[in-house]
Amino acid sequence: MTMVRIPASRLVIAAALAATLAACSGGEPAAEAPPVLKERHDNFEAIGDAFKAVRGELEKDAPDFGVIAAKASEINTLGGKIEGHFPAGTSVDDGYKTEALPAIWEKPEEFKAAAQKLLDESAKLAEIAPAGDKEAVGAQVMALGGACKGCHDNFRLDDKK
Ligand code: HEC
Repeated sequence: MTMVRIPASRLVIAAALAATLAACSGGEPAAEAPPVLKERHDNFEAIGDAFKAVRGELEKDAPDFGVIAAKASEINTLGGKIEGHFPAGTSVDDGYKTEALPAIWEKPEEFKAAAQKLLDESAKLAEIAPAGDKEAVGAQVMALGGACKGCHDNFRLDDKK
């Protein structure tokens, strides 16, 4: 029978090439990212945009409190989706390009409470904004920002220093 003989030097080159490719793809997910990763990214981006709009409005001499109320409602709706966006096995430790820390699954009750806080604070902002009390609205926007930070500090890679 005939055997295909591969010169040893070729094998060395092949091994070196494989090592190089592995190094280049370092940090990239082993498997294709599940769609939920993009969904939650887009959802947080939308939450971020809405919150930016709220703060931008508040900086004006004559804020449009209707816009603030609408954006707060939007944050409330988007915030309601957070819980469903974190199936097990999608943390940064699972090799995906995400800022979701394993703590989300290690402390599910705390994560849930942090998400609930976002819902509570955004609902309150939507409720009080139409009355147009700039000071009260400003204080509630701070409280809402605190809900973002409270979760990011514990559950988001970027902010965990
Ligand atoms: C219950 C926890 C929680 C709350 C509350 C929360 N976030 Fe986040 N946020 C996260 C996590 C976790 C990520 C990282 C998601 C990822 O990378 O998959 C994130 C990511 C983001 C991002 C980056 C988008 C991305 O996916 O890379 C923005 C912008 C953001 N959040 C804004 C906000 C704002 C503004 C608020 C408050 C109005 C807020 N978040 C409230 C947990 C939270």
